[in-house]
Amino acid sequence: MDLRGKVALVTGAGRRVGRAIALALADRGASIAVHYRSSRAEAEELVEEIAHRGPRAQACYADLESVTQIDAMVAAVIEKFGAIDVLVNSASVFYRKPLDQITERDWDANLNTNLKAPFFLSRAAGLAMRGRGAGKIVNIGDWAGIRPYNNYLPYTVSKTGILGLTRALAKALAPEVQVNCVALGPVLAPPDYGPDEIARLVGGTLTRKMGSPEDVARAVLFFCEGTDFATGATLVLDGGRLLK
Ligand SMILES: NC(=O)c1ccc[n+]([C@@H]2O[C@H](COP(=O)([O-])OP(=O)(O)OC[C@H]3O[C@@H](n4cnc5c(N)ncnc54)[C@H](OP(=O)(O)O)[C@@H]3O)[C@@H](O)[C@H]2O)c1
Repeated sequence: MDLRGKVALVTGAGRRVGRAIALALADRGASIAVHYRSSRAEAEELVEEIAHRGPRAQACYADLESVTQIDAMVAAVIEKFGAIDVLVNSASVFYRKPLDQITERDWDANLNTNLKAPFFLSRAAGLAMRGRGAGKIVNIGDWAGIRPYNNYLPYTVSKTGILGLTRALAKALAPEVQVNCVALGPVLAPPDYGPDEIARLVGGTLTRKMGSPEDVARAVLFFCEGTDFATGATLVLDGGRLLK
């Protein structure tokens, strides 16, 4: 897909990995719907940055635990830009909880945000893409969806689900829409990680270094503009973490 003049919705785009993906798509000429929940100032700053580079952009609020808000946001993006050609599901929750302390709320927060929301976003945007004859959905997963982390059970289950969702949606939305996944290793440490925790992340890779949000953005671009032949695929972008 030639991204020039297309419209991309990126969730969790105000900060960190989502921001890098949004900027990369904008640099290829796409207009960007910058989704945020709490990072409003950062989302608005990014909208200005994208507009400065040329493409149109708008900040879009939704709490992704609400399907009503998801549907309203997708409708608002289509109203504003006339279409959605690309959806990147990057927003997620990620926090440690030992098994015996996991509450129903922890389960719901992880599964709602990381799995249910990508489904309802993909259905709303994907049906609109199919109506126009083409579209791309890229889900951001985690290598831990294949081999679970300790002490992050609801998160890893949600990321296992994303792998299945990617394949199921690829079938449901074929042939017009291609749906793929990038399963990440460490690309950006949580803000509260200190040097020891970062050293542990690095030590867990074969590459002996972290990836970067820009690595992720390049993988997303590959699935959007590099090929129309991949669908239902997962690219493990993890510095060899799965093999260690
Ligand atoms: N960073 C890594 O090294 C790494 C490794 C493996 C996988 N991943 C995956 O890569 C993706 C991006 O990673 P990241 O580190 O950039 O993520 P992050 O900083 O943990 O979260 C991204 C954004 O998700 C949004 N979000 C969370 N709950 C939400 C909700 N209920 N409604 C709406 N938005 C919500 C937040 O937006 P607001 O700030 O606007 O509230 C947050 O800024 C995630 O899917 C993550 O699982 C990342």
